[in-house]
Amino acid sequence: MNEFTSHKAWAIASHNAGKIKEIRDLIEPFGLTADGADELGLPEPEETEKTFIGNAKLKAVAGAKASGRVALADDSGLEVFALDGQPGIYSARWAGQPRDSYRAMDKVRAELEALKATDYGARFVCALALAHPDGPVRVYEGEVRGTLSFPPRGDKGFGYDPIFVPEGHAVTFAEMDPVEKHAMSHRAHAFNLLVEDIFGS
Ligand code: IMP
Repeated sequence: MNEFTSHKAWAIASHNAGKIKEIRDLIEPFGLTADGADELGLPEPEETEKTFIGNAKLKAVAGAKASGRVALADDSGLEVFALDGQPGIYSARWAGQPRDSYRAMDKVRAELEALKATDYGARFVCALALAHPDGPVRVYEGEVRGTLSFPPRGDKGFGYDPIFVPEGHAVTFAEMDPVEKHAMSHRAHAFNLLVEDIFGS
């Protein structure tokens, strides 16, 4: 037991039902429960930091302050090497409003073509931050590397999955069985680091 696991009810600083379920499933075997931002009425702070870690930290700290619980937050996105890491922390809002992932993927392709880029390498990044109401914060970052491929292929997954072919594979994340994607994803890697650190012996 440590200062994080001695708190049995965590807060998840997210409004995304899928993410909340994933995190609940993950911490349940360790005797912990969690409620999401909507259930706890958590504020949604503006993501003003310049890094995934910075934004995850900002959301977790705000969640811990507002709820008095240990709070977990994440931030993720796609970094395209030839585009100096764009769309990066702006992945969700990159193609403007309303959010449309096909428009965002078109924009990636147009920018790579305009640069006559030969390197289509990219990585998905996921940062997790766990904040204690008394102040301590732990952060973890996971990644998965791959190559972008156009046109988009596959209808599973979300976001930039249809153009991302993970290293060592021939299909995009959107063509892959979700169980297989989840086992190798940036999110899985970040979660593994958290589990090892918080629940490891
Ligand atoms: P957020 O971390 O929920 O703010 O989401 C960041 C954005 O990054 C998403 O809206 C997607 O566009 C993109 N993204 C993050 N993870 C993935 C993934 O696993 N597949 C595809 N796109 C992703």
